Amino acid sequence: MRAIVVNTPGGSAALEPAEIPDPVPGPGEVLVDVAASGVNFIDVYHREGRYPLPVPFVPGSEGAGTVTAVGEGVSDVVVGDRVGWAQVLGSYAAKAVIPAEQTIVLPSGVSPDLAAAVLLQGLTAHYLTHSTYAVRQGDDVLVHAAAGGMGLLLTQIAKLRGARVIGTVSTPEKEKLARQAGADEVIGYEDFADEVKKITGGGAHVVYDGVGAATFDGSLTSLRPRGMLALYGAASGAVPPFDPQRLNAAGSVFLTRPSLTHYVADREELLWRAGDVLGWVASGALKVHVSQRYPLAEARRAHDDLEARRTTGKLLLIP
Ligand SMILES: NC(=O)c1ccc[n+]([C@@H]2O[C@H](COP(=O)([O-])OP(=O)(O)OC[C@H]3O[C@@H](n4cnc5c(N)ncnc54)[C@H](OP(=O)(O)O)[C@@H]3O)[C@@H](O)[C@H]2O)c1
Repeated sequence: MRAIVVNTPGGSAALEPAEIPDPVPGPGEVLVDVAASGVNFIDVYHREGRYPLPVPFVPGSEGAGTVTAVGEGVSDVVVGDRVGWAQVLGSYAAKAVIPAEQTIVLPSGVSPDLAAAVLLQGLTAHYLTHSTYAVRQGDDVLVHAAAGGMGLLLTQIAKLRGARVIGTVSTPEKEKLARQAGADEVIGYEDFADEVKKITGGGAHVVYDGVGAATFDGSLTSLRPRGMLALYGAASGAVPPFDPQRLNAAGSVFLTRPSLTHYVADREELLWRAGDVLGWVASGALKVHVSQRYPLAEARRAHDDLEARRTTGKLLLIP
């Protein structure tokens, strides 16, 4: 089958198109013909070796397609089912073996293409807005990189929960997209903490920060007393070590560094979050903005574009 393989971690050249043997589903697993694989920032961290993995490996953590075979002991997923998944390595490929426990059977009205575009980031936006900090009606919410894959979903879901959303973006095109997603105020990164304080009159209840090093200090000072900084990523680089006393100085604020793994602790939690997200997609309450589809063999270009901040919304690889 066609796949992308990483033999030596590094820059985007580490993503090598290759022909490799078809995977075979073991007990509890299913084989899927992949319709689309989602591109995520974590794929960059895996590729670079920032999150080290044994080599060689097929990168990619998200996708969707049609089940073509099931392993021993699988009863709740059958051949022909359309399924999606998040957090299963090996998704940049024409076929993937997925633990049945990790599959999400797609409701009618959600194509595999859409599922591959929304699952990983949608589950993340769901736990951030429902569990890490449960957004309430009237809350002031700051979303960084509001036109990105995560940002557009966070903005929409925070709006569904009744928040006032302030988004940061780097270009006028991104500003337009963030506004279309429902952001009430869209600002640049320069002096954003002052802007947020001015708009809210006291600071944000929560800051969702996936940008990391470049925004961390401003994110802390954007909070109102007892607000929460959910530092959920590091697109601009890792945040250096810091003194907890700064949380006191910022107003007894909370800092958390959450990860999807710990918020889909079991199948029940996965199905709850996925059910909400795919339900909103099917009803039209949540719009998924797929900005670019790349042939699988051009995974390098997708990573280059993502890392250079040239993208908006979601990127897909099509095998
Ligand atoms: N913890 C979790 O559970 C979890 C799960 C999924 C994703 N994430 C994290 O969420 C973040 C966003 O992921 P995504 O896939 O949706 O990407 P994305 O937001 O579509 O792309 C990254 C965006 O970050 C902004 N950015 C600011 N400074 C940057 C820099 N120096 N380099 C690159 N980008 C920069 C850019 O938007 P502007 O040009 O508007 O600034 C860029 O478009 C990542 O940090 C990722 O690791 C975390």
